[in-house]
Amino acid sequence: MSARLFLLLALHLCVDVVPVQSQGSQQDSFIIQYLERRLAQIEERLSQCEQNSISATQKIYDLSSDLRSHMSTLTVFRSELKTQVDSVSTRVERVERELEYLENKIPTQSDIEMEEALLEQQIKAIERELKKKAKIKVENDCSTALTQIKSLKIVKKAGDTSGSWFKDPSEGSNKVYLMSGIRNNTLLEYVSLKSFTEKAVTLAAKELQLPVYWQGTGQVVYNGFLYLHKADTANQIVKVDLLNGTVVDNTFLPGAGNIPVYSLNPNTYMDFAVDELGLWVIHADSEYGENLVITKLDQVSLAVDYTWDTQCKSRDAEGAFFICGTLYVVYNTRYGGRSTVQCLFDIHDTIHSNESPVMFFPKRYTSHTSIHYNPKDKQLYAWDDGYQTIYKVEIQQNDEVTAQ
Ligand SMILES: *[C@@H]1O[C@H](CO)[C@@H](O)[C@H](O)[C@H]1NC(C)=O
Ligand SMILES: *[C@@H]1O[C@H](CO)[C@@H](O)[C@H](O)[C@H]1NC(C)=O
Repeated sequence: MSARLFLLLALHLCVDVVPVQSQGSQQDSFIIQYLERRLAQIEERLSQCEQNSISATQKIYDLSSDLRSHMSTLTVFRSELKTQVDSVSTRVERVERELEYLENKIPTQSDIEMEEALLEQQIKAIERELKKKAKIKVENDCSTALTQIKSLKIVKKAGDTSGSWFKDPSEGSNKVYLMSGIRNNTLLEYVSLKSFTEKAVTLAAKELQLPVYWQGTGQVVYNGFLYLHKADTANQIVKVDLLNGTVVDNTFLPGAGNIPVYSLNPNTYMDFAVDELGLWVIHADSEYGENLVITKLDQVSLAVDYTWDTQCKSRDAEGAFFICGTLYVVYNTRYGGRSTVQCLFDIHDTIHSNESPVMFFPKRYTSHTSIHYNPKDKQLYAWDDGYQTIYKVEIQQNDEVTAQ
């Protein structure tokens, strides 16, 4: 059995070996061809591989630059976010502070009750005043209204950027006064407007040294007396006799002195005025929405004749003047511009602010620190940034008052 198998195997071998020996070179070339093919295939795959690796490198490079740009935008986003978070946190802080403030401000019940009592008291006072108002009769009453500010004339440039100048409007006086700056104890007096405008200043002026310092740009001279706001006091009014420079009287104006009269003139807390009816004081009341309050003063005794609350705002006002019992308030901007009369208050209640048009000052950039009306020559004396200026005005008879 095993011998038979061996034989078979040997036969097989023979059959196999014989063709190999006979066809040796053919087989060789076959193998070489085969190997060459394989080699070519491998080379191709290698080059493909190389290609792939190049494109992979490129992709990696692209990806990394993409990543870099993303990273940089991310950094920007992050810093933006940080600022936003910061601003939100400051806002939150502010709101917290405001809340705290409001909490402190909310009045307790007892406060409210007290305020109601106060209100009642005030209503009673107003009722009393209204009765008094019906009886008030002003001397030398007049009935005119300002219709236009016609022209301007710059007469001089003297002194500080702030100040005031005016004439004594009383009969028989031509004197011109100049108060430079916002606080001093000197007053320059000129015998007339002519001598004021003359070149030789030092010769023309008489320098008056006052016993007290004045403050702001609201002072006036009337009948030879200077009415001033005493410096370093909230609301003390002093009357000085200019003949011998002595203080003849003084008083305190209740409610005045907390805030400047006009928001654009922060150093003036009381503004005096003289018109056909006499002596006035203008101030702003912080308790009354910062509106202007006017007081008619007795020029002799300095007693308060009467006080009116006006609806004219202190805000953006630069000055005011009186003509015939009517207050005209002049407004401007912080940067200086064209002054306008935009609010008035007539004690006779015949001219109304909402019915009268806005009145413009002549076209020029101005910033007035004082404006005084002179009832004698019916002109405005203004201090415009160091320039002493006169405005001519047009005044009309008010028929309604005349008819009464
Ligand atoms: C007061 O006025 C005089 C004369 O105009 C001036 O020389 C002086 O500097 C002023 N004083 C103050 C404090 O402004
Ligand atoms: C100043 O003059 C007035 C009159 O104008 C007089 O009443 C007063 O007594 C005088 N004062 C002094 C201190 O001379």
